Amino acid sequence: MLSSLPVDLKKVDSKNIDKEIARVGMIAELDAVSFYEQLAAMATDSNLKKVLLDIAKEEKTHMAEFETMLLKLDNEQIQENIKAKEEIKKLTE
Ligand SMILES: [Fe+2]
Repeated sequence: MLSSLPVDLKKVDSKNIDKEIARVGMIAELDAVSFYEQLAAMATDSNLKKVLLDIAKEEKTHMAEFETMLLKLDNEQIQENIKAKEEIKKLTE
């Protein structure tokens, strides 16, 4: 959904380029989810609203595809996700 890159990929070294591309993909898909949900909230035609919400759901799949790729490429992110789950568990118990 983003029409321009939120980061300058030319400044990313070759070791990290694929991780950064996956992150940019995640950002774009999350933006698309928000965009279509906002349009759905404004739509007055119920069928259009359904279509927009279905598209928003598909964008969530796309986001998860980039997230899955990032986790294949970035072991540090996997470790941080484990820490985050522990922190959230402590905070919400
Ligand atoms: Fe998408």
